This record gives sequence, structure tokens and C-alpha cells, in this order.
Amino acid sequence: MILPIYVYGQPVLRKVAEDITPDYPNLKELIDNMFETMVHADGVGLAAPQIGLPIRVVVITLDPLSEEYPEFKDFNRVYINPHILEVSGEEISMEEGCLSLPGIHETVKRGSRIRVKYVDENFVEHDEVVEGYLARVMQHEFDHLEGKMFIDHLSALRRQMIKGKLNVMLKGKARSSYKMKQVK
Ligand code: NI
Repeated sequence: MILPIYVYGQPVLRKVAEDITPDYPNLKELIDNMFETMVHADGVGLAAPQIGLPIRVVVITLDPLSEEYPEFKDFNRVYINPHILEVSGEEISMEEGCLSLPGIHETVKRGSRIRVKYVDENFVEHDEVVEGYLARVMQHEFDHLEGKMFIDHLSALRRQMIKGKLNVMLKGKARSSYKMKQVK
């Protein structure tokens, strides 16, 4: 089932999300719905707060990039209760967008390497060092679980430049190709 994506201005996007336990109700269905919603909206990542749930569940697909990067073929992962333990490596600038910020694309600087712990959909624990594009997507998505969005990383000047677009969202007048839940 495709779920509406919560847009900037929705309070759930500013909450710190909670860890879940294996008995979280209908988890498998929730994960399936998150994948379907993400793919339908042409996203590569989706965090549960973006569908209105303040819990630590993230889905990531890198399959859309597999034409250029064959190693990402069928890369579809679920990250439950993720926590970034360390960010390191070179700081790299790259343009980002977010399904909760339709129409905004800005350059964000992030570390190229992270160490992260999480459990997968079977609640098997992982402790991994991740680099490159996946580390970028993970940092973006896991920020959502801390109540942060990529625009928080921008300079005061860049934030000023996008203020008009944010105000459109706060008025409930944003447009996108997918179903959204705006504040008004
Ligand atoms: Ni996002």
C-alpha cells in the first residue's frame, strides 16, 4: 500500500524516533508499505517519520543506480534501530533532495565513512563500517530519526534562499508526483 509522505512542517519530522522491539505490530506489512511508497515516489531512502511514525525504521534501495553502479543491483535493505557510532573520512559535498521537501535540492557536506549499528528485519544485529554513496544515504535517512532534515546542514544564506519554498509547504501548497500529507 502506498502511504502519503509527510511534508516539512509536520511535527513528526522533528521528533527523535524510538527504537522498536520484534513484537512491533504488523512490522512486515509496514516495511513492505515503506518500500512501495519509496519506489513509487522515486526515492532511494525513506524513514518511518516520513510516513508519520516516530520509530527507528528506514528502508533504502540503491537499485535505481545499478545501471551506473552494477554493485547496487537489487540492493534493498531495511535498517531497524540504527544508530551512527562514528562519522569519519573526508568531508564530501553532494546534492541532496528529500521526499519530505519536494522541489528542494541543495548541496550538503557529510563525512564519507560511518560506523553504524542496527538490526535487520530479522532482528539480527549488525555493526558495520560503510563508505561512499550508501554512507551518504544512511546519514540522510538516519538524520530523520533524530528529528533532523538535510536543510539543517545548510548555511544561513542557503536557508534564506529556500525560505519561500518552505513557506509554500507550511501553507500546504507544495506539489509533487506522489501523495503527500501537508500541515494544512
Ligand atoms: Ni529525507
